[in-house]
Amino acid sequence: MADVLVAQGVGVDYPTPAGAVTAIDDVTVTVPDQGITVFAGPSGSGKSTLLRVLALVERPTRGVVQLDGEAVSSRSHRQLRALRRQTIALMFQNPLENLLPELTAAQNVIAAAQSAGRRTDLGLLDVVGLKGMGNYRVPALSGGQQQRLALCCALAREPKVVLADEPTSQLDDMSAGLVLESLKVLVERGVPVAVASHDDRLTELADLVVRMSSGRVDHGRVA
Ligand SMILES: Nc1ncnc2c1ncn2[C@@H]1O[C@H](COP(=O)(O)OP(=O)(O)O)[C@@H](O)[C@H]1O
Ligand SMILES: [Mg+2]
Repeated sequence: MADVLVAQGVGVDYPTPAGAVTAIDDVTVTVPDQGITVFAGPSGSGKSTLLRVLALVERPTRGVVQLDGEAVSSRSHRQLRALRRQTIALMFQNPLENLLPELTAAQNVIAAAQSAGRRTDLGLLDVVGLKGMGNYRVPALSGGQQQRLALCCALAREPKVVLADEPTSQLDDMSAGLVLESLKVLVERGVPVAVASHDDRLTELADLVVRMSSGRVDHGRVA
């Protein structure tokens, strides 16, 4: 098993009026090219920052991110944007942030596939349990259905890896359960998934759990 993403000695500082804030520091983690990796830890421990760096949305202040064994994090923002579009699907906590709300479910899948230069397979809607809902507009879907549509859009882009930031945190238990089922489907289809979450059900599902604490990997805790 190889690693699709590696962060090596990664640190991120943010300038604030009160001086630089270190969001994460000296973080070395790997995301295997199969299965579910969960970054767990309390609020403020650096999960979202790490996910943004791994997703190539943000360049680290220190350290290196490797994609498929190649150091990429020092590339220009423009190069990173192009690389990201082809290879990485990033899902946010808020379902609506992941979708184009003025479009239908099917149109969202089509747009997602096109954005990565892929051919559209609307059969993917069935895969995430949204059969027959292609014509629904985004606001007519529940939060859980929107997150499953977002996962469907991620699949349609045929990425090398899917990264999701607290994908179940804004959902009720039942909807969250269905999102977890869809995450499993992604993994069964061979797409590696890395998730930031403090949802115990996600850590139970994980093949690898990385605990974060105060911006660092917490090696003291056995996952
Ligand atoms: N843009 C930013 N500017 C300043 N501080 C930030 C910024 N983003 C995150 N931080 C700080 O970095 C730390 C880690 O945040 P975050 O990665 O969002 O953690 P988590 O996702 O685990 O809640 C927190 O202390 C947070 O306040
Ligand atoms: Mg967060």
